[in-house]
Amino acid sequence: MTATSVAQAVYVLAAVLFVLSLAGLSKQESARRGNLLGMVGMVLALAATIVLALGTSARPVLVTALLIALVLLVGAAVGTWRARRVEMTQMPELIAILHSFVGAAAVLVGFNSYLTAHAAGADDVAHLVEVSLGVLVGAVTFTGSVVAFLKLSGRTRSAPLQLPGRNLLNLAALLVSLGLVVWFVVAPSIWPLLLLTVVSLALGWHLVASIGGGDMPVVVSMLNSYSGWAAAAAGFMLGNDLLIVTGALVGSSGAILSYIMCKAMNRSFVSVILGGFGAEEGAAPAGGGEGPQGEHREVSADEVAALLRDARSVVITPGYGMAVAKAQYPVAELVELLRDGGAEVRFGVHPVAGRLPGHMNVLLAEARVPYDIVLEMDEINDDLAGTDVVLVIGANDTVNPAALDDPGSPIAGMPVLHVWEAGQVVVFKRSMAAGYAGVQNPLFFRENTGMLFGDAKQRVEDIVAALRVG
Ligand code: TAP
Repeated sequence: MTATSVAQAVYVLAAVLFVLSLAGLSKQESARRGNLLGMVGMVLALAATIVLALGTSARPVLVTALLIALVLLVGAAVGTWRARRVEMTQMPELIAILHSFVGAAAVLVGFNSYLTAHAAGADDVAHLVEVSLGVLVGAVTFTGSVVAFLKLSGRTRSAPLQLPGRNLLNLAALLVSLGLVVWFVVAPSIWPLLLLTVVSLALGWHLVASIGGGDMPVVVSMLNSYSGWAAAAAGFMLGNDLLIVTGALVGSSGAILSYIMCKAMNRSFVSVILGGFGAEEGAAPAGGGEGPQGEHREVSADEVAALLRDARSVVITPGYGMAVAKAQYPVAELVELLRDGGAEVRFGVHPVAGRLPGHMNVLLAEARVPYDIVLEMDEINDDLAGTDVVLVIGANDTVNPAALDDPGSPIAGMPVLHVWEAGQVVVFKRSMAAGYAGVQNPLFFRENTGMLFGDAKQRVEDIVAALRVG
């Protein structure tokens, strides 16, 4: 057996493990196993690649081995250092910067692959198309991801850069890039490739700079998809099947995730790309002339504790505010207390609650809330009408009845949790301010809604204390 055939066999195994890993990651209960399968797949893929590189190396094997050991050491050291230090809340920015590495790698592989083939006089059309598309997608991914990283980590303002005619600029850059691809394929030389790189870098930078900070999660998922396609293009250039399969898996799962996020927000993908929505996160309500819509009723933590003492069924719908307040730990304590008292307690998680896919699930898992009581919106919505008390902890848009009742609302049509159908609703927030979409929430003015103002963590702790005393 040659090194190549061993490597190919291991690649197939690794590809299967990657598919199983993705399947595992789709459910909380199997996510740990999914991660493990992915890690095993990656170790196998790396080992096979090293065997292949050593077996086909034109240099002395020892030199190749040392070079590989050096890059592995640097990569592993930096990766371990970052992974140990990163906070859960910094995950999106870490993912963004990792995508930029994939983009940069695709560009470098593109240049290397072109120069090597060109020197050997082997410029065939298919290869030139692979190189130019890989460089285009890689360069857009690189600068787009760097800008996303800078915005998410607060190193630059997250507000969208609104250059006049920005959509036309993007369109023009795309057309020029495609023109340069044609030039490069028809008359191969380094110049169209260099120009293509510069234009694509500018396009990636401008595309993401024009999008508001609040839309960054969708953008990161979109860049995830791009990075996958960039990796697949690199796989074609290198003739590496595993890289093609892995790139396609990342590319399509990122695209599906972006689609799911857009659908759950009732926004079109195009409207996210065109930017301008959720630009000023945390800003005053922006919804068309929507001031307060009646009287709200304020409740105290003691009153909520009394309500919960009598409740047989409780549903908690967490949102972005729970993450901001880091209230998941007292929430878990409250759940335990209520369950010990005999109440049925469940969570209803909206697909875009918070600012990241799975944001709430991760926080609840961190606080050791049992998985089986954490339900998705579609699983719990029909049960809300028969629920005694719903606690809306730091959620706003995801529980807004205007999405169903008001066709003129900016979030009209967005699927929401029907919390208002429950016997009593308690909304935990600090003020009457609007949520992410900047629209007023009629839920706050309903008769069966009580507003519990203050930091969600503090208020939940107050309720826990009151329940323990009583
Ligand atoms: P939001 O509509 O963002 O509302 C969060 C609420 O939490 C605010 O009303 C805020 O009110 C309250 N809050 C903030 N800090 C708090 C604290 N320390 N204590 C108590 N309350 C606090 O939340 P949501 O219902 O989770 O909706 C998510 C929104 O983000 C949706 O519009 C969604 O489309 C959007 N989005 C989601 C994603 C993903 S993938 N999840 C991606 C992009 C956009 P106060 O300021 O009055 O306290």
